[in-house]
Amino acid sequence: MAVVVSNANAPAFEAKMTVYVFICVIIAAVGGLIFGYDIGISGGVTAMDDFLKEFFPAVWERKRHVHENNYCKYDNQFLQLFTSSLYLAALVASFIASAVCSKLGRKPTMQFASIFFLIGVGLAAGAVNLVMLIFGRLFLGFGVGFGNQAVPLFLSEIAPAQLRGGLNIVFQLMVTIGILIANIVNYFTAEVHPHGWRIALGGAAIPAVILLFGSLLIIETPTSLIERNKNEEGKEALRKIRGVDDINDEYESIVHACDIARQVKDPYRKLLKPASRPPLVIGMLLQFFQQFTGINAIMFYAPVLFQTVGFGSNAALLSAVVTGTINVLSTFVGIYLVDRTGRRFLLLQSSVHMLICHLIIGSILAKDLGVTGTLGKAQALVVVIFVCVYVMGFAWSWGPLGWLIPSETFPLETRSAGFAVAVSCNMFFTFVIAQAFLSMLCGMRYGIFFFFAGWIIVMGLFALFFIPETKGIAIDDMRESVWKPHWFWKRYMLAEDDHPDVEKRSA
Ligand code: BGC
Repeated sequence: MAVVVSNANAPAFEAKMTVYVFICVIIAAVGGLIFGYDIGISGGVTAMDDFLKEFFPAVWERKRHVHENNYCKYDNQFLQLFTSSLYLAALVASFIASAVCSKLGRKPTMQFASIFFLIGVGLAAGAVNLVMLIFGRLFLGFGVGFGNQAVPLFLSEIAPAQLRGGLNIVFQLMVTIGILIANIVNYFTAEVHPHGWRIALGGAAIPAVILLFGSLLIIETPTSLIERNKNEEGKEALRKIRGVDDINDEYESIVHACDIARQVKDPYRKLLKPASRPPLVIGMLLQFFQQFTGINAIMFYAPVLFQTVGFGSNAALLSAVVTGTINVLSTFVGIYLVDRTGRRFLLLQSSVHMLICHLIIGSILAKDLGVTGTLGKAQALVVVIFVCVYVMGFAWSWGPLGWLIPSETFPLETRSAGFAVAVSCNMFFTFVIAQAFLSMLCGMRYGIFFFFAGWIIVMGLFALFFIPETKGIAIDDMRESVWKPHWFWKRYMLAEDDHPDVEKRSA
């Protein structure tokens, strides 16, 4: 059974990597930085006593009873709601953002994101009660929904095909930098009493302002302009970002994609048609799998997790800084390899890699960490090392590819809608993990690592058989070069009446 797809017949359009594209990529990716900052900041803030005393006094009381069950110190639905409310809001927002993205463009969608971020930061950092705090998180969530919808699409559309993977992963790189900055901020503000947590939550204002002003400088994508009938502007934009004179072939291919897209009045209905199934199923499952690698159990709750296995409060935050650094550095490996070895290699390699880490961590905790005891120094160190090795594998594979693949595999007519479904699935599963992790940790204890290990086996097999290689293929050519030749997905491509060209002919 041939599961690898040949890319030989993919058209390559002429393009240079221009300084202008580079600047646009960096500015847009600041959206990712804010997302990462939000992910990273929650774990540290919820480990700060001042914060707990003010908003979650019951958790604080419980935490002080040191001899309590190791795995259950923090299990509190409201505390989890603090972390997870953001993702619920982002879930809803990504659908609105998708409409804004199609109707107004990628650039205004990013501008809206920065405004939501600023409101959210103000409310959360200035919160005087739980309601204000949660509202702040909801606005931040709206920002994340808008940003995560627009930025990866923007990046995939302005990137030349042969560099698309690497440029798109700059989004993930910024996510990881955001997480790292948040971990460092947590580390220092934990010492600032009683308002350190306000500084921590307020820090997101800086990237939000950069995004707001930066997004005035960047270009709208040619695809989005042409999609909205601004063909001349679109052509100009394309010439500007490609840095070559002969952009006609690519321009024609975008116009063609837009012609097809225009005939689709309801992209969500179109998503339900068989021809949309391959990118839709893959886009949704990637999000489920990405979250069920267990990454956010580590990212949100690293300080809590490290405290649980016996580190002191500050040592725990410091370990989170270490994992954060590894996360950033390993993302560069992804950027370097994704357009060389391709997407599949990274997904498969890292599945084996992460599986081994989970099994080792789970076994150490099972063997050495009693319910109320602490872990010996040596074992705790081994746990931290394997958490780091695990984070490495995630950072060059399921992390970035969870965003890259859905942004590059939908045809234009369903790209924004399809990507919105993917983003909202990501938010939903992130919400599930954020909401459930502390309870799962309490109920399953070390078993949680075996739970994630089980899912990693499933996702590895899925990648092996069902995720085709998309390296180097022009974004508007996936149907011909990827889905039609694929051993499994081709069956959905054969239903010709599903193709809009045919709808037109028979109309
Ligand atoms: C995921 C986040 C995760 C982060 C870790 C992202 O791709 O979507 O949920 O926290 O990677 O670096």
